[in-house]
Amino acid sequence: MSSTFAFAPSDAGHTRPTDTIRIALAGCGTVGGALLDLLARHGAPIERRTGLRFEVVSILVRDRELPRSLHVPRERLTDSVQEFLAVPADIVVEAIGGVTTAATIARATLARGQRLVTANKALLRAEGPALAALAHGRAPLGAAIDFEAAVGGGVPIVRALRESLTGHGVSRIRSVLNGTTNYILSRVEDGDDEATALRAAQRAGFAEADPSRDLTGLDAADKIAVLAWLAFGVDPTRLPVRTLGLPPDLATAVRNAKAKGRVLRLVAEVEERDGVVRASVAPVLLDANDPLARARDEENVVVIESESAGAITLHGRGAGGLATASALLADLLRASAPVLA
Ligand code: NAP
Ligand code: HSE
Repeated sequence: MSSTFAFAPSDAGHTRPTDTIRIALAGCGTVGGALLDLLARHGAPIERRTGLRFEVVSILVRDRELPRSLHVPRERLTDSVQEFLAVPADIVVEAIGGVTTAATIARATLARGQRLVTANKALLRAEGPALAALAHGRAPLGAAIDFEAAVGGGVPIVRALRESLTGHGVSRIRSVLNGTTNYILSRVEDGDDEATALRAAQRAGFAEADPSRDLTGLDAADKIAVLAWLAFGVDPTRLPVRTLGLPPDLATAVRNAKAKGRVLRLVAEVEERDGVVRASVAPVLLDANDPLARARDEENVVVIESESAGAITLHGRGAGGLATASALLADLLRASAPVLA
């Protein structure tokens, strides 16, 4: 990977006075750990170009004794949510996953007017509108919520729907949103068996802590519900998503698809027609030239169909520590301007 980051052209070549942004990081696993690695590698150029220095003041984990990367400041580790929340911070990053503790952290953060950056689609599916309402109510104190990392990993679909495409009249989204199942499908296409491919996906950090959420389509269902919320304003907590995961005999299904010149992908789709929003996740046989069929390994592809701009396709790494941490870092940079204002 390149050792420099791109910023707005107006930043190029300028050295700015430094402001310190205090980060409290909940979770130091695949995603949280990769964020610390990214900050260690790119903190200096970021500071030079933007004048922002990110200081990680507290890190919440389950087990403080686990071995961790050299970039983890071990003296900042805590296994107590209360202790974690008591450390003064400007931005709280949530990367622990699950809903219960994550929701406690998210609510406390927003209620006291802090900015929250989260990678947690399950949390957003379960509580997104309530958290957004809390952030809105506490906005005068500085509260806000950002979640680019929660859907699409390094693919910037959240900001696209939240900001860039709001006036485009989005009618349908077709997507591959789960990196783990796409990685398994790609490996099985190349002749591996499913169990070996899943283990490799877990080792690479693509899978959820409970990988059945990937395999059964629940992870993709959370993500498409979040996209439906952003694109159509529907409540993701109430949106039914017809959900099917990978077929039971995957090797045979992949072989049959190949024999027909087709490609099997786990497709997450949402569409608004006549005021009704319908969402689904299911394995689908695609034409080889369908953009979704081009998702390889952990990649995600999102095709947004809109009235005014036609079809817009985003394609990139949808899972893994580095890709996801890059989306968290983008949210941190964006969230930092109001902190300084
Ligand atoms: P992970 O590797 O399992 O890491 C989870 C981290 O959170 C670990 O550091 C763990 O502590 C800590 N943790 C978990 N539950 C906790 C609790 N109740 N109290 C305190 N600490 C707790 O998970 P991950 O892959 O980084 O995923 C984190 C979040 O990012 C999830 O919401 C996931 O869906 C989302 N996400 C992941 C990816 C990806 O590719 N992996 C991509 C996009 C979004 P220990 O280290 O002590 O075990
Ligand atoms: N387990 C998820 C996936 C991580 O495989 O897509 C990225 O959200």
